[in-house]
Amino acid sequence: MPRVYIKTFGCQMNEYDSGKMRAQLGSAGFEGTDDIDDADLVIVNTCSIREKPEQKLHSFLGRVLPQKKLRPVTVAVAGCVAQMDGQRIFRKYPGVDLVFGPDAVAKTRELVKAAQTRRILDTEFLAGDGAYPFPSDLDPEAQGRVGALVTIQKGCDNKCTFCIVPSTRGDEVSRPADAIVAEVEALVARGVKEITLIGQNVNSYGLKVPGMPTFAQLLRLVHVVEGVEVIRYTTSHPRDMGDDVVACYADLPKLASHLHLPVQSGSDRVLRRMKRFYTREKYLNVVRKLRAARPDLVLSTDVITGFPGETEDDFLQTMSLLDEVRFESSFSFNYSPRPGTPALRLLDDAVPDEVSQERLARFQARQREIQLEAHRALEGTVQRVLVEGPSAHDDGVVCGRTSTFKTVNFPSDAHLTGQWVDVTITRAFVNSLRGERVGEAV
Ligand code: SAH
Ligand code: SF4
Ligand code: F3S
Repeated sequence: MPRVYIKTFGCQMNEYDSGKMRAQLGSAGFEGTDDIDDADLVIVNTCSIREKPEQKLHSFLGRVLPQKKLRPVTVAVAGCVAQMDGQRIFRKYPGVDLVFGPDAVAKTRELVKAAQTRRILDTEFLAGDGAYPFPSDLDPEAQGRVGALVTIQKGCDNKCTFCIVPSTRGDEVSRPADAIVAEVEALVARGVKEITLIGQNVNSYGLKVPGMPTFAQLLRLVHVVEGVEVIRYTTSHPRDMGDDVVACYADLPKLASHLHLPVQSGSDRVLRRMKRFYTREKYLNVVRKLRAARPDLVLSTDVITGFPGETEDDFLQTMSLLDEVRFESSFSFNYSPRPGTPALRLLDDAVPDEVSQERLARFQARQREIQLEAHRALEGTVQRVLVEGPSAHDDGVVCGRTSTFKTVNFPSDAHLTGQWVDVTITRAFVNSLRGERVGEAV
């Protein structure tokens, strides 16, 4: 049997797409392998959101391509860098056999076959009508897992000025609700309990097509699927977070008490220049409504420091927003100029790298303090967790998640995987909690 090794960089869209590639290649007779030296086909699924992730492609190819001198191996570059750089990848790396973008994932099998005889490039964006081919094959690795991703839309119609995603993923297309529900049902039938609905801007799901359910309606459709125990979703755009979705937090018990709501900046001036189309006050208002609907809701966010023109005062507003909302985790990044994005025009106002780095470090230090304070407040309480499986670091320890997306490690063997357990929290860390099980599975 030929073997495939897939390396995935980037966000959940890429993770999901890699799963679809695995599924398609599995039905074409490929077997997955974790050993790159043993693979007949190597696929690297790439990310171009910032310069650093993009660099990972180059170091990866630097390691894998020399192997072609030792044995026959097909090398494919997929994902967002493939979409952006296309032909340039072929020119730079004569050993690459196949380059394909996110819209070509549904054709993985055919493309890999064709690449056995000649170099293949497929970076065409497909039409944004109902014909977009969302693959329905199930990731073989999703079977037996506790949680799985399900895509609900592709692309993004926003034009946040820093962001490359609209050029790498094309226009937004919503996946038909019946196909989403069918995939959820198929996953649940294979033992999955937690479903994460994914898209770049899930709140605008269905809005472009008359008669399609809205995102709030979709949440309700997934909620009634028997066997689904937890529903999460990512990513939400604060501008589009409507009262109908807020109401779901009051009505739908399976909807997790954690929401990732990227804010990017606490300054209205910066938000305007980013073209995010909300103000700090509007963001805070959404947070207030969400917390009224679900008092224990935990929020996380994304923040960019050093966006062109950001002053110390702008940055202090991001710091004060962190304290006001008390985000319990965040992904924060230094602004990274991306090719073809509108913010390049603002670079006359660029923030010096050392200033941006220093702001990032200040933000992250305060974030860690808040996280630890929030976690310490849980010491001595009993938390209900869904057990995900053995801890990657400790023998005899399993790892579970609270509805609020906290990782809780506690001593047990793996037989509890997939079950709900009550755990007394004994020790708080910045990124996780430690505990002791109370009784048997519930
Ligand atoms: N669709 C999601 C985000 C996708 S990108 C949303 O709208 O929130 C994930 C995160 O990467 C963004 O939230 C942003 O914080 C960060 N990011 C995107 N482009 C960036 C850039 N050019 N420089 C630094 N961070 C960036
Ligand atoms: Fe990028 Fe903005 Fe679309 Fe998110 S909403 S993917 S940040 S353009
Ligand atoms: Fe990266 Fe593409 Fe996702 S740029 S963050 S892999 S949509």
